[in-house]
Order: sequence, then C-alpha cells, then structure tokens
Amino acid sequence: MIGILDSGIGGVTVLNHIRKLLKHQHFIYYSDSKNNPYGEKPEQEIYDMVKNIVEYLIQKGCQTIVIACNTASAICSSRLRKEYPTIRIIAIEPALKVVKDRQYKGLTLVLATSATLKSQKFLNTYQKYKTEQTVLVPCKGLANDIEENNQEKINEFLQNLKKEYPETKNIVLGCTHYPLIQNRILEYFKEVNFFDGGIGVSRLLQKEIQDKNQKEVIEFIDSSESIEKQNRFYNYINNENKEIKKS
Ligand code: DGL
Repeated sequence: MIGILDSGIGGVTVLNHIRKLLKHQHFIYYSDSKNNPYGEKPEQEIYDMVKNIVEYLIQKGCQTIVIACNTASAICSSRLRKEYPTIRIIAIEPALKVVKDRQYKGLTLVLATSATLKSQKFLNTYQKYKTEQTVLVPCKGLANDIEENNQEKINEFLQNLKKEYPETKNIVLGCTHYPLIQNRILEYFKEVNFFDGGIGVSRLLQKEIQDKNQKEVIEFIDSSESIEKQNRFYNYINNENKEIKKS
C-alpha cells in the first residue's frame, strides 16, 4: 500500500503522474483540508500535523509514503526519514533542476508557498540550480484559493503576476495545487514552459515499487470529511477501467 499526503486535494496532481507509471497499486490518499493551508504556518506546527498523518498511514499498513506537498516535504522529509527509518519516504520538490539541466532560457518564476521558499531544503536547491533569471514568488493564499475553488481570487493573482512579470518564459509549479490551474495560467502566459515536480517523484517511486495487485484501488481520506472535496478528488482522477474504492 502506498500512502500519499497533502494539505488538501493538490496532491492528486502527483497521484495522477504516479498512476501513469505504476499500474494496479493500492493507494491511500490523505487530504488534510481541516488544517489547510500549510504554507503560512510555523515549521513545528507543520511538522506535527504531517507526523500525525504519517502515523495514521503507517497504521493503515503503508510502508511507502509519498509526500505530495512541497511545503510538507521541504520542512518535514529529512526529520521524518530519521524518525521512521523503516518506512520509505518519497518527497516532492520544486523542479528547478530541470530548468537548469535542460538549459531553458529566459525568465523563470518559481511559484511556491512562503514556507517552502524559506525552508533550508529549498534554499539548498535554489543555490545549486538558480540561473541569472530565476525569481522566487511566494504565492500567499493561492493554494487555499485553489483548494476553495475561488476563481475570482485566482484571476486576481494571475493578473497581478502577469503585470509584474510579463516576460516570463518558464514557470516552476512549486506547490502541488498549482498544476490544477495550469490552463488558467496559460490564459495569461500564452507560451510558457511548465515544470512540475510530480513527474520526478513518480519516476523515483517507480524505481522503488515492484509488487502489483490485481486491480487499482484508491482510497480518499479527508481530515474535514468534506464530501465536496471527495467529489472533486475523484473527478480529477480519470477512472475509466479502474475500480475506485471510496472510503
Ligand atoms: N500542496 C501544498 C504544497 O505543495 C499546498 C501548501 C499549502 O497548504 O499551503 O505546497
């Protein structure tokens, strides 16, 4: 069983990448929407919340846990690995390395929460892979606006971003909620390249997982027990030919 966690439904973007590479797995997805957003909370508070979810997923039988939240990953992954040495912990990070390695030119915006951008883990990545034209953009409130499906606020954010950085060529989606508005971003930035850390994580996971079940099972657990969130989650999953178990 593979546990997947996020502060809300954003991690579904990671799960969908994983499902393209790994067939017939049993996934338990934990959405912590009761505590969402994580991105402006103090580090210790984020750690305590994430640790609780990890404990829960271990109790459910997950030996592999994917942290499908850049904020949680930036703040908690090394500590969690030390605390749970027998659990395989796979953690997402903003895909800045790909921009540098593949030599994409022009202005690169790294969109992420303040907590991610302030974290030591991200600062190390940034020092290694920044180019002369890398700009860090703390997107206050954006993950929450996506979680709440607040189209007005999302528009306002994108309008301001376009006004401030009209020449943008590359966008690093440094929060797993942001791929959910990729089409909206394209309305403002017509020819931009996207970089989504979910792709790297799914490849890492694929290398680790050998076993298969008879069929795919996806369980969804939400800390606020929101039916609306559950429905949105399953809508984001293309479930043709797959058995989906709702818990
Ligand atoms: N999906 C989370 C991330 O990748 C959202 C953060 C939040 O809850 O603020 O960072």
